[in-house]
Amino acid sequence: MVKRICIIGAGPSGLAQLRSFQSAAEQGVEIPEIVCYEKQADWGGLWRYTWRTGVDEHCNPCHGSMYRYLWSNGPKEGLEFADYTFEDHFGKAIASYPPRAVLFDYIEGRVKKAGVRKWIRFNTVVRDVRTVEGGFEVTARDCDSDTETREIFDHVIVASGHFSFPNVPHYPGFETFNGRILHAHDFRDAREFEGKDLLLLGTSYSAEDIGSQCWKYGCKSVTVAHRTAPMGFDWPDNWQEVPKLERVDRKTAYFSDGTSKDVDAIILCTGYRHHFPFLPDDLRLKTTNRLASSDLYKGVVYAGNPDLFYLGMQDQWFTFNMFDAQAWWVRDVILGRIALPDAATMEADWKQRQADEDVLADDYACIAYQGAYTLELIAETDYPTFDVEAANQAFYEWKKHKKKGIMEFRDNGYVSPMTGTKAPPHHTVWKDALDDSLEDYLKT
Ligand SMILES: Cc1cc2nc3c(=O)[nH]c(=O)nc-3n(C[C@H](O)[C@H](O)[C@H](O)COP(=O)(O)OP(=O)(O)OC[C@H]3O[C@@H](n4cnc5c(N)ncnc54)[C@H](O)[C@@H]3O)c2cc1C
Ligand SMILES: NC(=O)c1ccc[n+]([C@@H]2O[C@H](COP(=O)([O-])OP(=O)(O)OC[C@H]3O[C@@H](n4cnc5c(N)ncnc54)[C@H](OP(=O)(O)O)[C@@H]3O)[C@@H](O)[C@H]2O)c1
Repeated sequence: MVKRICIIGAGPSGLAQLRSFQSAAEQGVEIPEIVCYEKQADWGGLWRYTWRTGVDEHCNPCHGSMYRYLWSNGPKEGLEFADYTFEDHFGKAIASYPPRAVLFDYIEGRVKKAGVRKWIRFNTVVRDVRTVEGGFEVTARDCDSDTETREIFDHVIVASGHFSFPNVPHYPGFETFNGRILHAHDFRDAREFEGKDLLLLGTSYSAEDIGSQCWKYGCKSVTVAHRTAPMGFDWPDNWQEVPKLERVDRKTAYFSDGTSKDVDAIILCTGYRHHFPFLPDDLRLKTTNRLASSDLYKGVVYAGNPDLFYLGMQDQWFTFNMFDAQAWWVRDVILGRIALPDAATMEADWKQRQADEDVLADDYACIAYQGAYTLELIAETDYPTFDVEAANQAFYEWKKHKKKGIMEFRDNGYVSPMTGTKAPPHHTVWKDALDDSLEDYLKT
C-alpha cells in the first residue's frame, strides 16, 4: 500500500515539502501519494500579493499580510535555496534586498522547474482534521465547485504559516478614535497615508518596516509607542519613539510619560497568532512565536502524535532554506530513513531546545542558534549542505548596517553562502527606489 500524505498550504514551507519528495522521486525513490491543499488560487503563500483584506473571494479569512513596496527585510543571502541559487534563477548576481515580486519569482522558479503543481488542489481550504483508524481524516472545501471532500491520509503536514491571523489588542478609547485603526495584516499601500500623522504600536519588524514605508512614501510623521523597549535606531526627524499608549480620545493619543499626540491613523504592528481553526485540541500546536516551538521534536514532529508534522512554525531569522531543511527531514521520516525515538525522548528534545534558547544572550546568538538548528537537520538528509556560517555572517553584517543607518541598510550587499559571489549594489538607493517591480529591480 502506497502511503498518502496531506500537506496543508503551498507557501514556501509547503512548496519545500513538495520539492523534497520530487527530488527523491527524481532519484528513483518510490514516493507516497501527495495531496497539497491550498486555499488561495495560486502558490507562494504570503509572497503572493493580494489587494484583499478581511475575507477572501470565498469568504475565508484573507491569508495575505504582505503589502505593496515590501522589500526583503533581511539579506537574501540568509534565505537562499541550496539546490537553486539566485544566480541559477536570474542568470546573474542580483542585489541583496529584493522586493516581494522578485522573491515570489524566485520561489516560483524552483517549483515550476520541479513540476510539482500537479500535486496542489488550489482554492481548496482545509476545514477539519481528525484522527481516525488508519490515520487522519481531512475535510476540505473546494471553493470553486463549492463541494466538500473527506479523505484519509497516513500523515498530515501543517504548513499553513503563522503570520496571518493578527494579534489585535484593545486600548481604552479606541471606540472614540476619529480615524482608521488597522492591524499590519490589513496594511496594503503606504500611499494611503501620504501627508498623515501615524501612530504605530509594536517595536518589531512590522512596526519598523511599515513605518519606514510610510516615511518613504510621504507620511507627515511616525510615532511609535513601545510597551517594552524602543527600537532605538537613528530615525529621521519626523519619527519619534514614545512609551506605552495609555488611551485615545478622538484624535489624541496619550502616552505613559504624560505626553500626547494628535494622529490620523493607528497601525497595530502587534504581531500574529499561531492559529489553526481546522485542528482539534489534541492535534493543535500551542506555542508562542519563538525559536524553539513547544511540543515539536526537532522543531517539526508533533509530540502528541508523531504522524503529524508542522513546518516553519518558529520565529524566523532563517526562512526558505530552514523550511527546506525541515521538509527534507520530515520527508525522510515518512520514507522510513529516519527513525523517531520514544515519546519521552521527543519531549525532552523540545524542552532542551527551549532551555537552550532561553539563555541566548542577544540577537547574534539567536541567529547562530537557528543556523545551527538548520545545519543539524541538513546533516541528516541529502539536502545539499551549505556554508551556514556565511549565512550567519550576512545576518550579523545586516544587523550592524541597520544600526548604522535604518533607511540605508538595504543599500548594502553580502556574500552568497551558496556561490561565494558578493551581491552588487542596487542601481538606486532604497529610499529613492519607488518602483518595486521585478523589471525595475533586475535592471542593471
Ligand atoms: C509582512 C511580512 C513580511 C515578511 N517578509 C519576510 C522577508 O522579507 N524575508 C523572509 O525571509 N521572510 C519574511 N516573512 C516571513 C514569512 O513567514 C516567510 O517568508 C514565509 O512566507 C513563510 O512560509 P510558510 O509557507 O510557512 O507560510 P505562508 O507563506 O503563510 O504560507 C502558508 C500557506 O498556507 C495556506 N493555508 C493556510 N490555511 C490553509 C487552510 N486551512 N487550507 C489550505 N491552505 C491554507 C495559505 O493560503 C498559504 O498559501 C514575512 C512575513 C510577513 C507577515
Ligand atoms: N519587509 C519585511 O520583510 C517585513 C515587514 C514586516 C514584517 N515582516 C515579518 O513579519 C513577521 C512578524 O513580525 P511582526 O513585527 O508583525 O510581529 P512580532 O515580531 O511578533 O512582533 C510583535 C510586536 O508587537 C508588540 N505587541 C504585542 N502585543 C502588544 C500589545 N498588546 N501592545 C503593544 N505592543 C504589542 C510586541 O511588543 P513586545 O516586545 O513588548 O512584546 C512586538 O514588538 C516577522 O517574521 C518579520 O520578519 C517582514
